[in-house]
Amino acid sequence: MGQMDGRVAVVTGAGGGLGREHALLLAAEGAKVVVNDLAGAKVVVEEIHAAGGAAVAVEGGVSDLAVGEQLVTAAVQSFGDLHVVVNNAGVIRDAMLWNMTEEQFDLVLDVHLKGTFSVTRAAARYWREQSKQGVTSDRSLVLTSSGSGTHGNVGQWNYSAAKAGLAIQAVNASRELARFGVRANAIAPVARTTPVLATPGLGAVVGAPQDDNAFDRYHPKHISPLVAYLSTAGCPFTGQVFSVYGGHVGLYQGWSLGHEINADRQWSVQELAEVMGADAFPKSLEAVAQRIVPVEGAGH
Ligand SMILES: NC(=O)c1ccc[n+]([C@@H]2O[C@H](COP(=O)([O-])OP(=O)(O)OC[C@H]3O[C@@H](n4cnc5c(N)ncnc54)[C@H](O)[C@@H]3O)[C@@H](O)[C@H]2O)c1
Repeated sequence: MGQMDGRVAVVTGAGGGLGREHALLLAAEGAKVVVNDLAGAKVVVEEIHAAGGAAVAVEGGVSDLAVGEQLVTAAVQSFGDLHVVVNNAGVIRDAMLWNMTEEQFDLVLDVHLKGTFSVTRAAARYWREQSKQGVTSDRSLVLTSSGSGTHGNVGQWNYSAAKAGLAIQAVNASRELARFGVRANAIAPVARTTPVLATPGLGAVVGAPQDDNAFDRYHPKHISPLVAYLSTAGCPFTGQVFSVYGGHVGLYQGWSLGHEINADRQWSVQELAEVMGADAFPKSLEAVAQRIVPVEGAGH
């Protein structure tokens, strides 16, 4: 008995990296999977078939609204329903702000933000129709954010914007779609995949694969159990953002109002300078970021 028997899932960007791991685990847990990527989805479908699972491939770019529709149609036509959408497809185009081109900015927002909008809107329309017809089921959305979106990162003006947007869209989706039985959560993963190895700083930290005896903390497969759990029927979480890598799972507190002052009148600039400039008003409040532990011997 798998944890996802009877569930139908779409996983975007699943031709490689984290998405491939998600698709393989969801299928191993009994889900029927629509595997999407620009290319390479068919190879992953073959892997799933070879392991005795059920999957179909839909190749195409997720920011194309027609591809979003195709993914939902493929799930319903091939497997009879849609319960889970894992929005995972992504690209990075890192550059310092003064060097970032319009193309770099547009592509990253297009794939992450518009891509997630495209697939999620198509799923929301299908789930709304089902709900109108009285067909209800536990539906789950997983969006893929990043520490770059929750804590920021130098050289990722485009990517941080997209990933911060996706974290809050998990909150929005959880509120808008609850009426159709949909839960929505986001993950901020850290794993050794191709784009991460190319990211200045992070590539050196997540390092090379470790020997067989060590726990390979940044192997991409460690992200998928949380994605699968969030996608199981009856999972209690919705509207949440999780940090995940290795054996770590963290629940974010979100933007949380810290220190306050209140007056029942307008403050003058001078008053604000006095009150906020005083030692009693903190100049920043601590946020707890992901604690990425360097892999021993990593340095490439
Ligand atoms: N690996 C990490 O440490 C890390 C950290 C934070 C967030 N993420 C996010 O996790 C997700 C997966 O990234 P990854 O690390 O596995 O990278 P990856 O490059 O290995 O995988 C991303 C996949 O998305 C596909 N893709 C790109 N554009 C697409 C499009 N328009 N339509 C469909 N598929 C498209 C790519 O072909 C690729 O297979 C991304 O959203 C990424 O931003 C990864």
